Amino acid sequence: MNIRVAGTGHTPFGTSKKEIGELMLEAVEEALSQANAKADDVDTIFIANFSSSFAGQSHLPALLASKLKTNAEIVRVESACASGGLAVKEAVVALSSGLYKTALVVGVEKMNASTISEVTGILASAASPDEIIHGATFPSLYALIARQHFAKYGTTEEHLAMVSAKNHQNARKNILAQFKKDIKVEDVLKSKMVASPLKLLDCSPITDGAAAVFLCNQEVADKFTSKEYPSVDIIGIGHSSDSISLLDRKDLTVMPAVVKAALKAYAMGSISPQQIDVAELHDCFTIAEIVEMEDLGLCNKGQATAMITEGKTAIDGMLPINPSGGLKAKGHPVGATGVSQVVEITKQLQGRCGERQVRKAETGLCCNVGGSGATAVVTILKRGMER
Ligand code: COA
Repeated sequence: MNIRVAGTGHTPFGTSKKEIGELMLEAVEEALSQANAKADDVDTIFIANFSSSFAGQSHLPALLASKLKTNAEIVRVESACASGGLAVKEAVVALSSGLYKTALVVGVEKMNASTISEVTGILASAASPDEIIHGATFPSLYALIARQHFAKYGTTEEHLAMVSAKNHQNARKNILAQFKKDIKVEDVLKSKMVASPLKLLDCSPITDGAAAVFLCNQEVADKFTSKEYPSVDIIGIGHSSDSISLLDRKDLTVMPAVVKAALKAYAMGSISPQQIDVAELHDCFTIAEIVEMEDLGLCNKGQATAMITEGKTAIDGMLPINPSGGLKAKGHPVGATGVSQVVEITKQLQGRCGERQVRKAETGLCCNVGGSGATAVVTILKRGMER
């Protein structure tokens, strides 16, 4: 099933003056140019976008069609913060069906056009109505998950702060990241409380940005793959949904959708978690990185904090996690995030990440999560042998 990632594009993440259509176009043009492809070479396009309420712009397929001047069939994909990963999966399915040879995926969100209270309300609309009615927001839902993890496995606020500090240090080496601040564990612990035990520096920020990948099947892979970099293929992808409400979960410290999506992706790629060299996880809140490490089988349940404390998830560690800076510090433009993860892992496997390059990375994993774990997409990528 291998699907080639022939080109990647990524705008800076942060606050942008560009309109949402311009953000998409910037990422798309970079991805196409890297693959030596033109708009006419694209058979189908999947746009990942969470909410038209942020930027007041709907009908993104038509908007992109007019900007890109393409006849490609364009579809918008939405699954909250997992929209990007899901759009990549839909592109993989489309290419595997044989109906299309090439597919472009672009994820985009422009969140800073709204006020923080508007943004919080729009984001909360991806939670269960039974939770929203009581005033729940995503920081408060992930705070409940954190409290359960603390009670069950002895996780502490310091462990969460170590995740944040690591990801902020990684982001300092990423020119496209939203934050380049020198954040240390003490800074995280001192930052203002948002939803106890989660503080400001445990949360991903509000971000504008876009990311794109140009994918193709093996029939045309050689035509589009740049000779400049080693080839990278998607070898496995898994998608799963679970209850939207935390009330329906048996154990708040487990995200069953992540477990199931990972098992599907590992099976498709004929690979085990032990073979993963680098991972981009969905650290919308620091506790999420910990829960996902465990649910992906990168360590046993309750063991993630030991790996973090021992520095194993740092860029020079045994299993680097979020070398891009993650959602925490690279930024989290909701619809773009899952695509941005695939961009980062592709670049890591191609050896073009400069100061944040993970050594000897051949196989990488992306975990993109929607809501408080209700949707998950896990994607596994592998470098070709011709390096
Ligand atoms: N991480 C690091 N720094 C952040 C930050 C974050 N998440 N959010 C804001 N900042 C910085 C700002 O840049 C600003 O810095 P400055 O003083 O140097 O300019 C400062 O902190 C204060 O920013 P402010 O805009 O007042 O923050 P806020 O209180 O309005 O928003 C949060 C902070 C945490 C509430 C907001 O980022 C948030 O809601 N995050 C969660 C988003 C979310 O739920 N996403 C979906 C996940 S499922």
